[in-house]
Amino acid sequence: MNNIIEQLFDLSGKTAIVTGGAMGIGNGIATRLAQAGASVMIVDIVSPQEASASIESIAQSTDKVAYTQADLSITANLETVITQTLATFGDIDILVNNAGIFKYVPLTELSEELWDKTLNLNLKSVAFLSKLFINTLIEKKHGGKIINISSIDSLKPTGNLSQYDSSKGGVRMLTRAFAKEAGKYGITVNDIAPGGVNTPGIRKIAGDNITKEQAEAMMAESAKYIQSLPLQRIGEPEDIGNAALFLASKASNYITGSSIIVDGGLLLV
Ligand SMILES: NC(=O)c1ccc[n+]([C@@H]2O[C@H](COP(=O)([O-])OP(=O)(O)OC[C@H]3O[C@@H](n4cnc5c(N)ncnc54)[C@H](O)[C@@H]3O)[C@@H](O)[C@H]2O)c1
Repeated sequence: MNNIIEQLFDLSGKTAIVTGGAMGIGNGIATRLAQAGASVMIVDIVSPQEASASIESIAQSTDKVAYTQADLSITANLETVITQTLATFGDIDILVNNAGIFKYVPLTELSEELWDKTLNLNLKSVAFLSKLFINTLIEKKHGGKIINISSIDSLKPTGNLSQYDSSKGGVRMLTRAFAKEAGKYGITVNDIAPGGVNTPGIRKIAGDNITKEQAEAMMAESAKYIQSLPLQRIGEPEDIGNAALFLASKASNYITGSSIIVDGGLLLV
């Protein structure tokens, strides 16, 4: 491998925070950043015990992985994420705002509680954790990278997800707005818009107590769905990890305010 290419993607000496990294897409991202040499702070709402399998899998690539348990939908918890990371690794360079929730509900049944719960995590925590991250980097006098995980729903509503689609549309605009102001501090802000990725969150939508007939019907439906995709397979967390590695690396240094769609072509269908 050409040395210049290796150096472009080398994250040795960098520290990344990955929210919602205990499973799913967050785990795929944390794993890829660790494989590129970064120290990784995983932040998630689940207990350290529930996160242990994920952390162990990341620890296969690095001995520089740590965990902070926090409910990010509560703004008062965000400061700890930064202070814990600084206390553990001494500095921060990359923030991946990945934690998010999605619940299917028709707009006629949408509750204020679900709206607030979704917006508080999916949009508000992204804004205020990014603000803390940017202020820390200004103080430390160095640049960095923010990578927000939006969704193809930021571009096209799926249906029965209006609170989620609104939060992700907000993340897309927040990415552009923060990028405009943070550039002068050497900080880039971009988002990745995934579509149809195989994660515990997506699998949970099927429900835990479905009948055999329902399970068979869903499998037939999902086979049809996969056939309809231009790339004819469902996305995996590492597909998003690959895009995150690009946005975290020097290879993307002149990109800010952008969005990378990683959906196997779903939006084309
Ligand atoms: N899976 C997909 O097809 C898909 C598509 C588009 C966008 N996304 C986005 O990607 C991100 C990850 O999705 P996923 O499919 O991996 O979900 P997931 O449910 O599998 O994982 C989400 C993680 O976030 C954590 N989390 C939930 N609430 C939290 C809170 N209040 N505080 C801290 N952590 C919390 C969970 O414990 C979990 O580890 C989300 O922002 C989601 O909207 C996913």
